[in-house]
Amino acid sequence: MSSDASPHTERLLVRQIRWVARDVVELRLTRPDGDELPLWEPGAHVELTLPSGLRRAYSLCGNPTDACTWTVAVHRVPDGRGGSREIHDTALVGRELEVRGPVNRFPLLPAEGYLLLAGGIGVTPLLPMARELTARGLPWRLVLGARDRSRLAYAEELLELGEDRVLLVPQDEAGLPDLAAEITAAPPGHAVYACGPAPMLDAVMSLCRAANPARTAYTERFASGDGGRQVVGTEGEFEVVLCRSGLRATVPADRSVLDVVRELLPAVPYSCEEGYCGSCETPVAAGVPDHRDTVIDSSERATATTMMICVSRSASAVLELEL
Ligand code: FES
Repeated sequence: MSSDASPHTERLLVRQIRWVARDVVELRLTRPDGDELPLWEPGAHVELTLPSGLRRAYSLCGNPTDACTWTVAVHRVPDGRGGSREIHDTALVGRELEVRGPVNRFPLLPAEGYLLLAGGIGVTPLLPMARELTARGLPWRLVLGARDRSRLAYAEELLELGEDRVLLVPQDEAGLPDLAAEITAAPPGHAVYACGPAPMLDAVMSLCRAANPARTAYTERFASGDGGRQVVGTEGEFEVVLCRSGLRATVPADRSVLDVVRELLPAVPYSCEEGYCGSCETPVAAGVPDHRDTVIDSSERATATTMMICVSRSASAVLELEL
Protein backbone atom coordinates (compact mmCIF):
# COMPACT_ATOMS: atom_id res chain seq x y z
CA MET A 1 0.00 0.00 0.00
CA SER A 2 1.56 3.27 -1.00
CA SER A 3 0.20 6.79 -0.88
CA ASP A 4 -1.25 8.23 -4.07
CA ALA A 5 1.14 11.06 -4.89
CA SER A 6 -1.20 13.46 -6.64
CA PRO A 7 -4.67 12.26 -7.60
CA HIS A 8 -6.60 14.28 -10.16
CA THR A 9 -8.12 17.44 -8.61
CA GLU A 10 -10.71 19.83 -10.02
CA ARG A 11 -13.68 21.95 -8.99
CA LEU A 12 -17.03 20.28 -9.56
CA LEU A 13 -20.55 21.62 -9.35
CA VAL A 14 -23.00 20.16 -6.84
CA ARG A 15 -25.76 19.62 -9.38
CA GLN A 16 -28.33 17.85 -7.21
CA ILE A 17 -28.91 16.64 -3.66
CA ARG A 18 -31.58 14.13 -2.58
CA TRP A 19 -32.41 11.98 0.42
CA VAL A 20 -31.68 8.29 -0.08
CA ALA A 21 -32.41 7.15 3.49
CA ARG A 22 -32.99 8.63 6.90
CA ASP A 23 -29.97 10.85 7.69
CA VAL A 24 -28.35 10.04 4.33
CA VAL A 25 -28.14 12.52 1.45
CA GLU A 26 -26.82 11.84 -2.02
CA LEU A 27 -24.78 14.49 -3.87
CA ARG A 28 -24.46 14.47 -7.64
CA LEU A 29 -21.36 16.26 -8.90
CA THR A 30 -20.66 17.31 -12.46
CA ARG A 31 -18.21 19.49 -14.30
CA PRO A 32 -19.65 23.02 -14.59
CA ASP A 33 -19.76 22.58 -18.39
CA GLY A 34 -21.30 19.10 -18.06
CA ASP A 35 -18.32 17.47 -19.77
CA GLU A 36 -17.19 13.91 -19.10
CA LEU A 37 -15.30 13.13 -15.90
CA PRO A 38 -12.36 10.74 -15.44
CA LEU A 39 -13.35 7.08 -15.47
CA TRP A 40 -13.67 5.20 -12.18
CA GLU A 41 -14.25 1.64 -11.07
CA PRO A 42 -16.41 0.24 -8.25
CA GLY A 43 -14.70 0.63 -4.87
CA ALA A 44 -13.20 4.03 -5.75
CA HIS A 45 -13.55 7.07 -3.52
CA VAL A 46 -13.13 10.82 -3.96
CA GLU A 47 -12.21 13.49 -1.46
CA LEU A 48 -14.35 16.63 -1.18
CA THR A 49 -13.05 19.91 0.20
CA LEU A 50 -16.03 21.47 1.96
CA PRO A 51 -16.68 25.24 2.11
CA SER A 52 -15.13 25.33 5.62
CA GLY A 53 -11.94 23.73 4.30
CA LEU A 54 -12.66 20.33 5.89
CA ARG A 55 -11.70 17.47 3.60
CA ARG A 56 -13.64 14.24 3.61
CA ALA A 57 -13.43 11.07 1.50
CA TYR A 58 -16.56 9.30 0.22
CA SER A 59 -17.08 6.22 -1.94
CA LEU A 60 -18.42 6.80 -5.42
CA CYS A 61 -21.80 5.09 -5.43
CA GLY A 62 -23.34 6.07 -8.78
CA ASN A 63 -23.20 4.22 -12.05
CA PRO A 64 -19.70 4.07 -13.58
CA THR A 65 -21.32 4.14 -17.03
CA ASP A 66 -22.63 7.66 -16.32
CA ALA A 67 -19.52 9.42 -17.59
CA CYS A 68 -20.65 12.93 -16.65
CA THR A 69 -21.70 12.46 -13.01
CA TRP A 70 -19.97 11.43 -9.81
CA THR A 71 -22.32 10.47 -6.99
CA VAL A 72 -21.54 10.18 -3.28
CA ALA A 73 -23.80 9.59 -0.29
CA VAL A 74 -23.16 11.07 3.13
CA HIS A 75 -24.52 9.79 6.42
CA ARG A 76 -25.03 12.48 9.04
CA VAL A 77 -22.94 11.72 12.11
CA PRO A 78 -24.15 14.10 14.86
CA ASP A 79 -21.12 13.52 17.10
CA GLY A 80 -18.59 13.30 14.26
CA ARG A 81 -15.87 15.79 13.39
CA GLY A 82 -18.22 18.05 11.47
CA GLY A 83 -17.83 17.04 7.82
CA SER A 84 -21.13 15.21 7.46
CA ARG A 85 -22.98 17.88 9.48
CA GLU A 86 -21.61 20.57 7.18
CA ILE A 87 -22.76 18.69 4.08
CA HIS A 88 -26.22 18.12 5.54
CA ASP A 89 -26.66 21.64 6.90
CA THR A 90 -25.22 23.75 4.05
CA ALA A 91 -27.06 24.75 0.89
CA LEU A 92 -24.58 23.18 -1.52
CA VAL A 93 -26.64 22.85 -4.71
CA GLY A 94 -25.17 25.18 -7.32
CA ARG A 95 -21.89 25.57 -5.46
CA GLU A 96 -18.54 24.28 -6.61
CA LEU A 97 -16.36 22.06 -4.43
CA GLU A 98 -12.79 20.94 -4.95
CA VAL A 99 -12.85 17.21 -5.60
CA ARG A 100 -9.76 14.99 -5.54
CA GLY A 101 -9.66 11.50 -7.03
CA PRO A 102 -10.89 9.00 -7.92
CA VAL A 103 -8.64 6.66 -5.93
CA ASN A 104 -9.45 2.97 -5.60
CA ARG A 105 -8.19 1.06 -2.56
CA PHE A 106 -11.08 -1.41 -2.63
CA PRO A 107 -11.08 -2.82 -6.17
CA LEU A 108 -13.10 -5.79 -7.34
CA LEU A 109 -10.58 -8.59 -7.84
CA PRO A 110 -11.25 -11.70 -9.96
CA ALA A 111 -13.33 -14.41 -8.26
CA GLU A 112 -15.93 -17.00 -9.26
CA GLY A 113 -18.63 -15.09 -7.41
CA TYR A 114 -19.08 -12.47 -4.70
CA LEU A 115 -20.74 -12.05 -1.34
CA LEU A 116 -21.21 -8.34 -0.57
CA LEU A 117 -21.84 -7.48 3.07
CA ALA A 118 -22.89 -3.93 3.92
CA GLY A 119 -23.52 -2.23 7.25
CA GLY A 120 -25.44 1.06 7.02
CA ILE A 121 -23.70 3.62 4.80
CA GLY A 122 -21.16 0.88 3.98
CA VAL A 123 -23.48 0.03 1.11
CA THR A 124 -22.00 2.87 -0.97
CA PRO A 125 -18.96 1.10 -2.49
CA LEU A 126 -20.89 -2.17 -2.78
CA LEU A 127 -23.80 -0.79 -4.84
CA PRO A 128 -21.62 -0.06 -7.90
CA MET A 129 -19.97 -3.45 -7.39
CA ALA A 130 -23.38 -5.13 -7.58
CA ARG A 131 -24.13 -3.16 -10.76
CA GLU A 132 -20.80 -4.14 -12.29
CA LEU A 133 -21.17 -7.82 -11.38
CA THR A 134 -24.68 -7.84 -12.86
CA ALA A 135 -23.34 -6.31 -16.07
CA ARG A 136 -20.57 -8.93 -16.19
CA GLY A 137 -23.04 -11.77 -15.59
CA LEU A 138 -21.19 -12.96 -12.46
CA PRO A 139 -22.95 -14.47 -9.43
CA TRP A 140 -23.33 -12.18 -6.41
CA ARG A 141 -25.39 -11.79 -3.28
CA LEU A 142 -25.68 -8.67 -1.14
CA VAL A 143 -26.73 -8.39 2.50
CA LEU A 144 -27.49 -4.91 3.82
CA GLY A 145 -28.11 -4.31 7.50
CA ALA A 146 -29.23 -1.07 9.17
CA ARG A 147 -30.92 -0.03 12.38
CA ASP A 148 -34.37 0.12 10.77
CA ARG A 149 -36.00 0.17 7.32
CA SER A 150 -35.78 3.93 6.98
CA ARG A 151 -31.98 3.67 7.09
CA LEU A 152 -31.58 1.06 4.35
CA ALA A 153 -29.94 3.36 1.79
CA TYR A 154 -30.32 2.38 -1.87
CA ALA A 155 -32.63 -0.54 -1.01
CA GLU A 156 -34.79 0.07 -4.10
CA GLU A 157 -31.82 0.26 -6.44
CA LEU A 158 -30.47 -2.99 -5.04
CA LEU A 159 -33.80 -4.80 -5.32
CA GLU A 160 -34.06 -3.64 -8.93
CA LEU A 161 -30.75 -5.36 -9.62
CA GLY A 162 -32.17 -8.65 -8.37
CA GLU A 163 -34.67 -9.28 -5.58
CA ASP A 164 -33.47 -12.84 -5.19
CA ARG A 165 -29.88 -11.70 -4.67
CA VAL A 166 -30.47 -9.04 -2.03
CA LEU A 167 -31.27 -9.52 1.65
CA LEU A 168 -32.31 -6.41 3.56
CA VAL A 169 -31.98 -6.73 7.33
CA PRO A 170 -33.61 -3.97 9.41
CA GLN A 171 -32.20 -4.61 12.86
CA ASP A 172 -35.32 -3.56 14.79
CA GLU A 173 -37.35 -6.24 12.99
CA ALA A 174 -34.86 -8.98 12.19
CA GLY A 175 -31.83 -8.45 14.43
CA LEU A 176 -28.30 -8.37 13.10
CA PRO A 177 -27.47 -10.05 9.77
CA ASP A 178 -26.36 -13.66 10.26
CA LEU A 179 -22.84 -13.14 8.93
CA ALA A 180 -21.71 -16.65 9.90
CA ALA A 181 -24.54 -18.27 7.91
CA GLU A 182 -23.91 -16.04 4.90
CA ILE A 183 -20.17 -16.74 4.83
CA THR A 184 -20.67 -20.46 5.37
CA ALA A 185 -23.20 -20.57 2.53
CA ALA A 186 -20.92 -18.72 0.10
CA PRO A 187 -19.44 -21.30 -2.29
CA PRO A 188 -15.67 -21.83 -2.13
CA GLY A 189 -14.09 -19.57 -4.75
CA HIS A 190 -16.46 -16.73 -3.97
CA ALA A 191 -14.85 -13.57 -2.54
CA VAL A 192 -16.35 -11.69 0.39
CA TYR A 193 -16.42 -7.88 0.17
CA ALA A 194 -17.54 -6.02 3.27
CA CYS A 195 -17.93 -2.38 4.21
CA GLY A 196 -19.35 -1.10 7.45
CA PRO A 197 -18.48 -0.36 11.06
CA ALA A 198 -15.34 -1.88 12.56
CA PRO A 199 -16.99 -4.55 14.76
CA MET A 200 -18.84 -5.93 11.75
CA LEU A 201 -15.66 -6.04 9.67
CA ASP A 202 -13.68 -7.70 12.45
CA ALA A 203 -16.40 -10.36 12.63
CA VAL A 204 -16.33 -10.84 8.84
CA MET A 205 -12.54 -11.22 8.82
CA SER A 206 -12.50 -13.83 11.58
CA LEU A 207 -15.46 -15.76 10.13
CA CYS A 208 -13.79 -15.88 6.71
CA ARG A 209 -10.54 -17.13 8.25
CA ALA A 210 -12.41 -19.78 10.25
CA ALA A 211 -14.58 -20.96 7.33
CA ASN A 212 -13.72 -24.34 5.83
CA PRO A 213 -12.36 -23.81 3.27
CA ALA A 214 -11.35 -20.27 4.26
CA ARG A 215 -12.97 -17.48 2.22
CA THR A 216 -11.04 -14.52 0.82
CA ALA A 217 -12.30 -11.33 2.46
CA TYR A 218 -11.78 -7.74 1.34
CA THR A 219 -12.93 -5.02 3.67
CA GLU A 220 -13.21 -1.25 3.63
CA ARG A 221 -13.56 0.46 6.95
CA PHE A 222 -14.96 3.84 7.79
CA ALA A 223 -14.34 5.64 11.03
CA SER A 224 -17.48 7.74 11.29
CA GLY A 225 -20.40 5.53 10.35
CA ASP A 226 -23.60 4.67 12.15
CA GLY A 227 -21.65 1.99 13.99
CA GLY A 228 -20.00 4.75 15.98
CA ARG A 229 -16.86 6.82 15.65
CA GLN A 230 -13.45 5.33 16.05
CA VAL A 231 -11.98 6.39 19.38
CA VAL A 232 -8.51 7.81 18.96
CA GLY A 233 -6.43 8.07 22.12
CA THR A 234 -4.09 10.96 22.74
CA GLU A 235 -1.94 9.91 25.69
CA GLY A 236 1.78 10.63 25.82
CA GLU A 237 4.23 12.71 23.81
CA PHE A 238 7.09 11.27 21.77
CA GLU A 239 9.79 12.29 19.31
CA VAL A 240 9.42 11.86 15.58
CA VAL A 241 12.49 11.75 13.33
CA LEU A 242 12.10 12.27 9.58
CA CYS A 243 15.06 10.25 8.30
CA ARG A 244 15.20 11.46 4.70
CA SER A 245 14.81 15.14 5.56
CA GLY A 246 17.02 15.03 8.64
CA LEU A 247 14.30 16.76 10.69
CA ARG A 248 13.10 16.03 14.21
CA ALA A 249 10.14 17.22 16.29
CA THR A 250 8.11 16.45 19.39
CA VAL A 251 4.57 15.14 18.95
CA PRO A 252 2.62 16.47 21.97
CA ALA A 253 -0.16 14.41 23.55
CA ASP A 254 -2.88 16.54 21.98
CA ARG A 255 -1.57 16.62 18.39
CA SER A 256 -1.29 14.00 15.66
CA VAL A 257 1.93 12.91 13.95
CA LEU A 258 0.42 14.25 10.73
CA ASP A 259 -0.12 17.73 12.23
CA VAL A 260 3.47 17.92 13.36
CA VAL A 261 4.88 16.49 10.12
CA ARG A 262 2.83 18.91 8.00
CA GLU A 263 4.54 21.85 9.69
CA LEU A 264 7.88 20.44 8.56
CA LEU A 265 6.79 18.95 5.21
CA PRO A 266 3.66 20.76 3.98
CA ALA A 267 3.32 18.52 0.89
CA VAL A 268 2.93 15.27 2.86
CA PRO A 269 -0.14 13.46 1.44
CA TYR A 270 -3.27 12.99 3.56
CA SER A 271 -7.02 13.00 3.15
CA CYS A 272 -9.54 11.73 5.71
CA GLU A 273 -7.51 12.45 8.88
CA GLU A 274 -9.54 9.70 10.50
CA GLY A 275 -7.40 6.68 9.71
CA TYR A 276 -9.55 5.05 7.04
CA CYS A 277 -8.46 6.28 3.59
CA GLY A 278 -4.78 5.25 3.58
CA SER A 279 -3.57 8.50 1.97
CA CYS A 280 -1.09 9.27 4.77
CA GLU A 281 0.45 5.79 4.91
CA THR A 282 4.12 6.23 5.77
CA PRO A 283 6.98 3.70 5.99
CA VAL A 284 8.45 3.30 9.49
CA ALA A 285 12.26 3.12 9.68
CA ALA A 286 12.57 2.50 13.44
CA GLY A 287 10.46 2.58 16.58
CA VAL A 288 7.20 0.87 17.53
CA PRO A 289 4.04 2.31 15.96
CA ASP A 290 0.82 2.25 17.97
CA HIS A 291 -1.61 1.53 15.14
CA ARG A 292 -5.01 3.20 15.57
CA ASP A 293 -6.19 3.29 11.98
CA THR A 294 -8.72 1.08 10.25
CA VAL A 295 -6.63 0.50 7.11
CA ILE A 296 -4.20 -2.07 8.54
CA ASP A 297 -6.03 -5.17 9.70
CA SER A 298 -5.55 -5.99 13.38
CA SER A 299 -3.92 -9.30 12.41
CA GLU A 300 -1.26 -7.43 10.37
CA ARG A 301 -0.41 -4.75 12.89
CA ALA A 302 2.45 -6.59 14.59
CA THR A 303 4.36 -6.98 11.31
CA ALA A 304 3.25 -3.83 9.48
CA THR A 305 6.15 -1.73 8.16
CA THR A 306 3.99 1.33 7.53
CA MET A 307 1.59 3.43 9.59
CA MET A 308 -1.21 5.98 9.09
CA ILE A 309 0.28 9.06 10.67
CA CYS A 310 -3.06 10.89 10.92
CA VAL A 311 -4.27 8.79 13.86
CA SER A 312 -1.57 6.27 14.81
CA ARG A 313 0.97 7.17 17.49
CA SER A 314 4.13 5.67 18.96
CA ALA A 315 4.61 3.04 21.62
CA SER A 316 8.34 3.91 21.74
CA ALA A 317 9.95 7.18 22.86
CA VAL A 318 11.24 7.85 19.33
CA LEU A 319 9.61 7.01 16.02
CA GLU A 320 11.65 7.24 12.82
CA LEU A 321 9.72 7.74 9.59
CA GLU A 322 10.88 7.46 5.96
CA LEU A 323 10.04 11.06 5.18
S1 FES B 1 -5.35 10.65 6.09
FE1 FES B 1 -6.68 9.01 5.72
S2 FES B 1 -5.73 7.35 6.75
FE2 FES B 1 -4.57 9.06 7.28
